Amino acid sequence: MVAAPAFAQEAAIPSRPIVIAHRGASGERPEHTLASYELAIEQGADFIEPDLVMTKDGQLVARHENDITDTTDVASRPEFRARRTSKVIDSTKHSGWFTEDFTLAELRTLRAKERLPLLRRANTSYDGQFAVPTLREVIALAKSASAKTGRTIGVYPETKHPTYFASIGLAMEAALVAELKAAGWDRADAPVFIQSFEVNNLKALKQMTRVPLIQLIDADGAPADGAQPSYAAMITPEGLKSVAAYAAGIGPAKAMVVKGDGTVTPLVDDAHAAGLKVHPWTFRAENFFLPSGLRNGINPAGHGRLGEEISRHLAAGVDGFFTDFPYQGVEARDRHAR
Ligand code: G3P
Ligand code: CA
Repeated sequence: MVAAPAFAQEAAIPSRPIVIAHRGASGERPEHTLASYELAIEQGADFIEPDLVMTKDGQLVARHENDITDTTDVASRPEFRARRTSKVIDSTKHSGWFTEDFTLAELRTLRAKERLPLLRRANTSYDGQFAVPTLREVIALAKSASAKTGRTIGVYPETKHPTYFASIGLAMEAALVAELKAAGWDRADAPVFIQSFEVNNLKALKQMTRVPLIQLIDADGAPADGAQPSYAAMITPEGLKSVAAYAAGIGPAKAMVVKGDGTVTPLVDDAHAAGLKVHPWTFRAENFFLPSGLRNGINPAGHGRLGEEISRHLAAGVDGFFTDFPYQGVEARDRHAR
């Protein structure tokens, strides 16, 4: 007799361009909190994005970086004052408090705060309210929301600083794959994409899981693991062909797809020719993040024409996109489909 799967298989994500809630609905709630992911789901996001780092006891939690100085209240906790330290991570010196120096139980006593208080002042009213979620909680939220809404809500985790974490005995790949497998996600059509700016850990993951992998590509520089001389080399037709050997798609900085002046680059066509999906990042409503021609006024915190920016990318043929404002992403995507 064949054992029943532990989880019902979700329906496949529809084949239209996907809206990926970048750190949740992080334009409206402190990033990487369950409240941020919940709002993103309410707003119609197809995927929620947790960036992942490790705790001292080997648990995966959602934070954009292991330095938690700017996104939690750790600096105001006298009991953790002595944990402040300096480290070199991916060749850059950081001073502050780091997830790998806290057990999960200790980390859970902290509360999240808004990363960009000057640009997102309204979000600071939520400071001190929400805990740092585990990957397991994020997956559970996606699953329960899928069951409740009848939509499939996917999870789009990013491994942050994987070489650094391996160097301190906290490699993240096996833990990530185990969490996904426990959720029933080890299939090519699972509602999951694993992303990384590094190369070698994606190649290792290719041997460990069947879920699709996304190679993140920055506008300049090179992967921190030294596996490629530059990101620029990765977006040549030859480079894209080698990425396609292990990844299902690329996640480039948005200006690599459509430049600030609206010029479309060959990247989407070249990536599609190599069989790769294209999911650019990051679409944000504030003037500060928009190309000059799409801003409204001169206040950096004011909101400009984000929908238009997303439309340009959809017209260029992207297969999905990361946004801090999922409701605007859904509106733009649906308008484009009509
Ligand atoms: O993962 C896509 C995008 O989020 C990459 O940039 O720095 O926001 O994780 P970052
Ligand atoms: Ca990310």
